[in-house]
Amino acid sequence: MQRNNAVDEIKSRCNIVDVIGRVVPLKKAGSNYKGICPFHNEKTSSFIVSEQKQIFTCFGCGATGDVIAFVQRYYNVDFPEAIERLAGEYGITIDKGFFKKNEKNDKLYEINRDAANFFYSAFTKTANAGYAYMQNRGIEPATLKKFGIGYADEKWDSLYTYLKSRGYDYNTLLELGLISYSKGKYYDKFRNRVMFPIINTRGKVIGFGGRIIGDGEPKYLNSQESPIFLKKNNLYGLNLTKQDIGKENCAILVEGYMDVISLYQSGVRNVSASLGTALTDNQAALLKRYTDKVVLSYDADDAGRKAALRGLDILYGAGMNVKVLHVTDGKDPDEFVKKKGKEAFIELTKEALPYADYKIEHIKREVDVSVTEGRVEFLKRAIAVLKTLSPAEADIYIKKIANDMKISEGAIRMELYGGDAGFGTGTRMENSDKVRRMPENVQRDKDAALRSMSDEDTAGDGMRDAEHISATEKHLIKIVLTDSSYYHKVAAYSYIFTNTKILAIWAAIKSVYRDGEEINPQAVREMLEIEEQDVFDDIMKNTLVAGYEEQIYIDSVKKIEIHEMKKRESEIKVMLSLADEDENGENIKELTEELMEIQKWINAQGGLQ
Ligand code: GTP
Ligand code: MN
Repeated sequence: MQRNNAVDEIKSRCNIVDVIGRVVPLKKAGSNYKGICPFHNEKTSSFIVSEQKQIFTCFGCGATGDVIAFVQRYYNVDFPEAIERLAGEYGITIDKGFFKKNEKNDKLYEINRDAANFFYSAFTKTANAGYAYMQNRGIEPATLKKFGIGYADEKWDSLYTYLKSRGYDYNTLLELGLISYSKGKYYDKFRNRVMFPIINTRGKVIGFGGRIIGDGEPKYLNSQESPIFLKKNNLYGLNLTKQDIGKENCAILVEGYMDVISLYQSGVRNVSASLGTALTDNQAALLKRYTDKVVLSYDADDAGRKAALRGLDILYGAGMNVKVLHVTDGKDPDEFVKKKGKEAFIELTKEALPYADYKIEHIKREVDVSVTEGRVEFLKRAIAVLKTLSPAEADIYIKKIANDMKISEGAIRMELYGGDAGFGTGTRMENSDKVRRMPENVQRDKDAALRSMSDEDTAGDGMRDAEHISATEKHLIKIVLTDSSYYHKVAAYSYIFTNTKILAIWAAIKSVYRDGEEINPQAVREMLEIEEQDVFDDIMKNTLVAGYEEQIYIDSVKKIEIHEMKKRESEIKVMLSLADEDENGENIKELTEELMEIQKWINAQGGLQ
């Protein structure tokens, strides 16, 4: 079944009232249904479901959409996942090629799943050193089961023998890093280890981490990278915790497997770990699907502090609200929560330092502010931090630093803004301000609205098509690659990037970009995976902007704005059609006024479309 057919089929077969009714108690109210909105806290029922129109709307928080949008938002899943879920429930078969499933990868997933089951059996069926080790570390059976923890025994070929008996090709096993080859023999890579399956948000086993039982080197052995395991794209535990992260609207990001498991067991469930490597832009983007608030809780040692500083920049750069905490007792969150418990840990998260505070604290630790050179150095480095903030935020820290260091606010402003004290210094700050300061719910709705960015079909259901890449997306990418002085301008609109390949290209651009330097396209390209490179090459070859960058940029922005307005216009129309004169009188008035404003604005844009 083709993509759009499948979407139509789902929309015609799934009744939104049934789908929502399963999780939100609904009462009949006139021709519609009413209930308590699951997307914000409320006591009265502002949440309306229309059977006729097959949509939901909340007059309290403004959430609105169709059955697929509901599933996406309620279960925190992306569009293809929502389709898969609904299709599964309603017995709708979807063509294999529908999600561009790759059969080779399917085989790899199958083998990993088999291996995970093998390790799990070894861990649970008979007494073994792995189980004893985890028990010793205070992990309960229910938690072990939840995370699918397994055991790789000490023999050289237990897994290999098993997988061979299943008829798998040894080259594929080598590719997955489950076995090694040496001196004419195949042997198991993981031996005498507790096995942590690494499972992606789609529930597929993509790799393993194995901890040595007791002491030994390496302490943790991770699967090598493979076509299905790219460390930079995944976070440990997120498959289990993404819903808690969404519900809490906050993620606690830790360093280790055991930190995730301990916190989870203690009841702190909105947790995930970055697989022992430095946090990447892609991991930030993945997390951002579920929340834009992160508390980095890395180890209290030097390595943990360094990693936190890097992670902080990555997350802040991704537009997230990020704080840092280092546990005060024990070396890591695992030890802390075991000693002090859940409540104490939650108290700590409340005291976590915001981005700028943490950076400034760090500078203070590194320089000696009791001497003049130290103070000069401090100010220089603090200014660099202030430059990354919006003017409003910077202002708060200017006051703090002035107070703290006994320097006049004017002096700091002078350093920060040059002679032009008090005024923003340019696009970077203005743009970042625009995007970062937007109230979260507005930003989120915007993201949803703009998932549609499709130039050919602005009014239609283009947003359904995660595969589609709009001309606007291509233009913005090409403009930055052609002239990097557009970087910050484009960054301000990067929220329209929703296609996964475009997001990957943008992430690569972000990591290659240096202020004031042109971007080397080859360096960007090298960071991409093959399918992303195809899109990249297509943009490099076929999207033409040279000589017209400014005009195309202005047109793109205009298109984005018009699109947003039209989307909002149709949302309001739907909401008005569902509103009740008696109950929503005030809402109707507000919505009507907003609608008139929007229509006036759209008309004023003239022929441009
Ligand atoms: P425990 O001693 O089991 O509590 O581990 P930990 O979580 O305290 O580990 P640590 O702070 O040493 O490391 C944090 C994370 O870094 C681990 O969860 C691993 O993902 C990774 N890591 C640690 N040691 C190694 C190693 O020797 N090799 C690799 N590849 N990764 C490691
Ligand atoms: Mn530990």
